[in-house]
Amino acid sequence: MKNRFNDLTGKEWLPFQKSFTHFTNFGDLYQENIRFFTKPSNELTPVALFSGSSSKEILFQSLCEKYKIHYGINNLDYIYIDLTDELINLQTKDQMESWLLITVNEIIGYSSKLLHRKFISILINNINIQGKYYPIAWELSNRLAQHYTRKDEKIICRKKNQEPFINLYFRKDEDSAFNTAISPSDLWNSIPDTTSISSIQTHPNWFMLRPKPRKKDEILHPAKYPEELVSLYLNTYSKKGDNVFDPMSGTGTTQVESLKLSRNGYGVELSSMFHSIAVNRCAQVDSNSNQWSLFEGDARNWTDGKFPTFDYIITSPPYWDMLNMQGAENQALRKKKGLQTNYSDNEKDLGNIDDYYSFLNDLVKLYISIITNLKEGGYFTIVVKNIKKKGKIYPFAFDLVSKLSPSCTLSHVGYWCQDDLRLAPYGFGNTWVSNTFHHYCLTFKKMN
Ligand SMILES: C[S@@+](CC[C@H](N)C(=O)[O-])C[C@H]1O[C@@H](n2cnc3c(N)ncnc32)[C@H](O)[C@@H]1O
Repeated sequence: MKNRFNDLTGKEWLPFQKSFTHFTNFGDLYQENIRFFTKPSNELTPVALFSGSSSKEILFQSLCEKYKIHYGINNLDYIYIDLTDELINLQTKDQMESWLLITVNEIIGYSSKLLHRKFISILINNINIQGKYYPIAWELSNRLAQHYTRKDEKIICRKKNQEPFINLYFRKDEDSAFNTAISPSDLWNSIPDTTSISSIQTHPNWFMLRPKPRKKDEILHPAKYPEELVSLYLNTYSKKGDNVFDPMSGTGTTQVESLKLSRNGYGVELSSMFHSIAVNRCAQVDSNSNQWSLFEGDARNWTDGKFPTFDYIITSPPYWDMLNMQGAENQALRKKKGLQTNYSDNEKDLGNIDDYYSFLNDLVKLYISIITNLKEGGYFTIVVKNIKKKGKIYPFAFDLVSKLSPSCTLSHVGYWCQDDLRLAPYGFGNTWVSNTFHHYCLTFKKMN
């Protein structure tokens, strides 16, 4: 097939597909984006534009020259907007709001200059001021999604305790009015400006894990999270003797790691198969004097009094009904091996709700009810991904933040990046679709 999108071979195309990358310098970052999103040709030279500081613009122009791309302002094939320098001076939510209004308008203004089906990349980061987390990048993403088609995002990992950059990708195309159906101010309005949090500064902002191979019974579960992830979070957000809870325990990873680290582990799981795997795993841990109990059933019906007050909650929900989507590579592979591809066919399984907003509302209701049993000042971590379905992006992680923020305050976002998965050349020759290899670990704090 003739490559209509850029001049990269599959070998060069693949590494760009990963939804995270390591930051070395701005030149390398701009260069790989220019290479990916433009296609130099003798007849029709593509035109690119940069917006950002003047020294970075000179850098971008020199890269355009190197790749035989015109630098211009009209009939644009590609726009790169670097906002990272502008964020440095924003200290209050009011300042951030004024900046957002101006910036969104400027970016909408590019629409008349950008050619049909061409991309805009925006480099930005969320802002953490003294333990208060302002997801300004996600808010910009939500607002722009009302005008352009939100195509993808890529995490640009800097030093472990530096907030990662996020490269947002939008396209001007026939779907560009697609409304994500959350009003643009939902996320932002839900973030209170006044609360200040004494947060834990040492937790890494992004991390890779090399999980041990899963045991025979653990493989039966299609989406177990690694022990290493749970222990990383338990060590930061809980202490020995604490009560740790997971309302959707799966194979009991949360409880097993809690017991190993001398915490008490409590949970609920709907599937009887996963529940009994979890019970067996817990029973095998030498728990000393620590307690554990796991209920089988619908977490939405868990009743007060069954558990002591929680000191810490860590959990990962079904990623909507994605496991019911046939054709995903991983699903096909599991099917071939005779393994279960979804959690269950039970209608109470939240992963079987096919309407996104019903799914989100049920999940949020459940989370709000368990937060009532979390001690004041306690933390709650949710491991989650945004969801790509049938060419559209559902910002599941951002939506959880906006819906939960009245009940607790977002205090940290850790990006778990997976570098041990096989890359697939999605969209090869045609468009940009990344392999989503990052999860958001959203940590909230329950305030008085
Ligand atoms: C992402 S998995 C959790 C995996 C778990 N963290 C582990 O490491 O094994 C989500 C779990 O939620 C369970 N689940 C779905 N709907 C539920 C409900 N209504 N009540 C309780 N559990 C439910 C599924 O059976 C599945 O095991």
